[in-house]
Parts: sequence; C-alpha cells; structure tokens
Amino acid sequence: MAASPSFRSAAAAGVLLAMVVAAVCLPGAAAQLCEDYYDDTCPDAYDIVKQVLMDAHQSDTRIFASLIRLHFHDCFVQGCDGSLLLDTVPGMQSEKESPPNNGSARGFPVVDAVKAALEDACPGVVSCADILAIAAEISVELSGGPSWGVLLGRLDGKTSDFNGSLDLPAPTDNLTVLQQKFSNLSLNDVDLVALSGGHTFGRVQCQFVTDRLYNFSGTNMPDPTLDSSYRAFLSQRCPRNGAPASLNDLDPTTQDAFFASFAQSMINMGNIRPVTDPSQGEVRTNCRRVNGS
Ligand code: HEM
Ligand SMILES: *[C@@H]1O[C@H](CO)[C@@H](O)[C@H](O)[C@H]1NC(C)=O
Ligand SMILES: *[C@@H]1O[C@H](CO)[C@@H](O)[C@H](O)[C@H]1NC(C)=O
Ligand SMILES: *[C@@H]1O[C@H](CO)[C@@H](O)[C@H](O)[C@H]1NC(C)=O
Ligand SMILES: *[C@@H]1O[C@H](CO)[C@@H](O)[C@H](O)[C@H]1NC(C)=O
Ligand SMILES: *[C@@H]1O[C@H](CO)[C@@H](O)[C@H](O)[C@H]1NC(C)=O
Repeated sequence: MAASPSFRSAAAAGVLLAMVVAAVCLPGAAAQLCEDYYDDTCPDAYDIVKQVLMDAHQSDTRIFASLIRLHFHDCFVQGCDGSLLLDTVPGMQSEKESPPNNGSARGFPVVDAVKAALEDACPGVVSCADILAIAAEISVELSGGPSWGVLLGRLDGKTSDFNGSLDLPAPTDNLTVLQQKFSNLSLNDVDLVALSGGHTFGRVQCQFVTDRLYNFSGTNMPDPTLDSSYRAFLSQRCPRNGAPASLNDLDPTTQDAFFASFAQSMINMGNIRPVTDPSQGEVRTNCRRVNGS
C-alpha cells in the first residue's frame, strides 16, 4: 500500500494540461470566474493556501484527498458557494450532518486554518468557496497530479442545504443515476469518468464495498466484474461481518493511466453555479458562519 497517497503518473498529463483555458478578468464585464481575480487584492493567496496545506500534510497524509472531496461536495450542492462549510444554526441544519458527509467528509479544521491565514494577510477578500477550489488544485498538484489555472471569484452563499446534500452521488447509484446527477449540473460523461479518477487517492470505509464483495445486487455473490485478486485482497481487509468504518485505500494500484481531462473537468465542476452577484453572496470572515450572525 502506498505510504504516501498520490495521483498516478500525471507528469505527462501536466504537460498537456498547461494549455487549459486561461480566462481573464474583465472589469465591468458580466461577472465570471477568472484566474487573476485576487492578483491585486491578495496576490499571495495561492502560496498562503499552499503553505497551510503542506503543514497540515505533515501530520495527516490523507488531507489532500479529503480536501478535494470537500470541493466536490460543495459544488454539487447549491453550486460552489461554500455551503458545505457552514455549521448548523437554529433553523438551518448543516450539510456536514447529512449522511453523505457525516462521519465521512473531513478537513474542516484545515479549511479554518487556511481562512485564518488569508484573513491575516488580506482581510475579507478571499471567499471560502474559492479556498476549496484552490485547495483542490494544490492537493492534486502536491500529490503528483496535474496542475491547472484555478478560476476564482466565487462569493460565499448564505445558506447550507441539508436536503440538497441528500442527493449527492451515492456509492449505490447506478450509472444511469450518476449520469443524471452529473448532467443536471452540466457535467457530461467525460467529466463523470475523469472526476471519478479523483478516487486515485484517498480512503473508503468498508461499508461502501461489502455489498460488492458479498452480496452484489442482492445475489449473495460478489460483483462478477471485480478483479478476482483485488476482490481477495479487499475481502481480507473487509471481512463479511467486519467493522463498517474500517478504512482502505480507494485505489491501491500503481497503474500508469491517468485521465488527461481531469483538470478540465475539475474546472467544469468548479464552474457549477458560482455566486458572483454581491447581492446574493459575500466573503465570509469565518467559513463556518454567515457574516454578522
Ligand atoms: C461519481 C460519483 C461519486 C461517488 C458515488 C463517490 C463516492 C465516494 C465514497 C463512497 C467515498 C468514501 C467515503 C467514506 O468512506 O467515508 C468517496 C471518497 C472520496 N471521493 Fe468520491 N465519489 C464520487 C465522486 C467524486 C469526485 C467527483 C471526486 C473529486 C473529484 C471524489 C473524490 C473523492 C476522494 C478524494 C475521496 C477520499 C476522501 C478521503 O480520503 O477523505 N469523488 N467517494
Ligand atoms: C452524525 O454522526 C454521529 C456519529 O456517528 C452521530 O452521533 C450523529 O447522530 C450523526 N448526525 C446526524 C445528523 O445524523
Ligand atoms: C427538507 O426535507 C424535509 C423532508 O422532505 C422537509 O420536511 C423539510 O421542510 C425540508 N427542509 C427544507 C429547508 O427545505
Ligand atoms: C438505476 O437506479 C434507478 C433508481 O434506483 C432505477 O430506477 C433504474 O431502474 C436503475 N437503472 C438501471 C439500468 O439499473
Ligand atoms: C437537479 O438540480 C436541481 C437544482 O438545480 C435539484 O433540485 C434536483 O433535485 C436535481 N436533480 C437530480 C436528479 O439530482
Ligand atoms: C443481500 O441483499 C439483499 C438485497 O439488498 C438483502 O435483502 C439481503 O438480506 C442481503 N443478504 C445478506 C446476507 O446480507
């Protein structure tokens, strides 16, 4: 098992991806995301995030995987608006507490640390939604994956959508349902496949694989499409009546293939319904709370 989780052989992909779209901020033009959004207001934003992430990685080698998943779970619910980061308040239950996230989504204290460092350097400037987008890119890059120009300029929304997070793609969803959930957000099959490559690092609890090991589609048999030696390996790690929360590497192999479209699909995912209208959003000073609450 890899001691240090990494993206697979992405060096070649990095060269290809250097060509990925470089959007430019057009002051006064219709609001859109752009790479140089913070160039004047917080020029060191990227490096500040990177430093906090590298520090966090010293004591938690899983953190990069966990952070990219936060961006995904943020963007798929109400768009990339930092909604996932809000804590529960009376009258509004946090997305963090929904089944797809509770006991599973992690890395929130590191996001807080990034926010604190950015508030020190440039108070009230960098949104929590953008922090997740930047952290996702840095996490992939520091894990040996491709790099891309992160589009920025999202504002933070003011609500957390617990019910919406119940519709996040689930490990039990079939292909049709996954395609529906992605296309609903203007992500196509290429995005679905490429972004699923996000599982080239990170960990998964046994409870999400035992059905395929022992009772696929209620057949009381393993999933016949599972590679047999991988199935044997996983069966040892996740015995039939073992602890459901035991962890495994999502991808234990060292295969050479990497989806060259991963970076473009990450950009596509980061474009899901961003809030850019100041009447609809804000830059939170604390990612867990709406300003003034
Ligand atoms: C296609 C639909 C998807 C499904 C059904 C899905 C499902 C899951 C599940 C069940 C886990 C394990 C959670 C746990 O054991 O607590 C997981 C982990 C993870 N997912 Fe996904 N996922 C999907 C898409 C994505 C996307 C789009 C990304 C990022 C681009 C992503 C990145 C990750 C990462 C990095 C982890 C490991 C997190 C960690 O170790 O903390 N997933 N996913
Ligand atoms: C979240 O998980 C914790 C620990 O498993 C559990 O005690 C709590 O009830 C869960 N919260 C919700 C809202 O389900
Ligand atoms: C969430 O869904 C539940 C059950 O359908 C419903 O009772 C509740 O009003 C919904 N909450 C919001 C904020 O829409
Ligand atoms: C996929 O799952 C949905 C919802 O459970 C179900 O309605 C549909 O029949 C399934 N499709 C296939 C091809 O299995
Ligand atoms: C599609 O997105 C809308 C919000 O834009 C949401 O209300 C709906 O539940 C989504 N449908 C699916 C299948 O996820
Ligand atoms: C296998 O799955 C089916 C359908 O989900 C379920 O009814 C059955 O109880 C499961 N069998 C075992 C041994 O868990």
